[in-house]
Amino acid sequence: MTTKKIAPSILSADIMNLERDVKIAEQGGADLFHIDIMDGHFVPNMSFSPSVVAGMRRVTDKPLDIHLMMDNPDDYIKAFVEAGADTILVHAESTKHIYRSIDLVKSLGARAGVVVNPGTPLEEVKELFPVIDQILVMTVNPGFGGQKFIPGMTKKIQRLDQLRQTSADDDFEIEVDGGINDETIVQCAKAGADIFVAGSYLYNGQDGFKDRVDTLKKLVED
Ligand code: DX5
Ligand code: ZN
Repeated sequence: MTTKKIAPSILSADIMNLERDVKIAEQGGADLFHIDIMDGHFVPNMSFSPSVVAGMRRVTDKPLDIHLMMDNPDDYIKAFVEAGADTILVHAESTKHIYRSIDLVKSLGARAGVVVNPGTPLEEVKELFPVIDQILVMTVNPGFGGQKFIPGMTKKIQRLDQLRQTSADDDFEIEVDGGINDETIVQCAKAGADIFVAGSYLYNGQDGFKDRVDTLKKLVED
């Protein structure tokens, strides 16, 4: 059994006060940071470059979880690892050769994860179990913070946890991303998720960040 972790998504932080918001999250009990990379092609939005990841690396020792929402991810994996990524998460839908992308991440010494969109079946990523450290199940369509959790995703997380339990290669964490709050986190935790990304719920004003992390942690305690 892995420890449950809370990962603030800095997409919802105040970009003009990013260092302040990173410190607030650290002091509030964040276990790691989730950084969304969007290219305006794979998803209809744009966000951060490797230089933002390098900036984050300078101000925190917490693990940095890099969620690549981009076409041709292989072209940028090295830049993100060099910028200080701990884990690189690649969408199964973003490349014809997901196994190669995962290999590339591992060869550069980072942890590797695969991401599945809400419409992508788990069967697409089963063969990757022996080589990945993490699977991210999108619980909204990728591209924007502040969306509503898609209820059917709870069963998908459950199925993934069952697959993990019956697999010889069960050494990976299940992460959920999108619409996670003090209600949806409960069902995700029960379904077997280990890492909970939360953006708009946590970065809801400067005050009370720690209280919100504490609330989430209490809700996912075994
Ligand atoms: C959505 C991103 C998420 C986003 C989550 O494409 O991958 O990481 O920041 O934001 P909330 O928690 O507001 O749904
Ligand atoms: Zn994300």
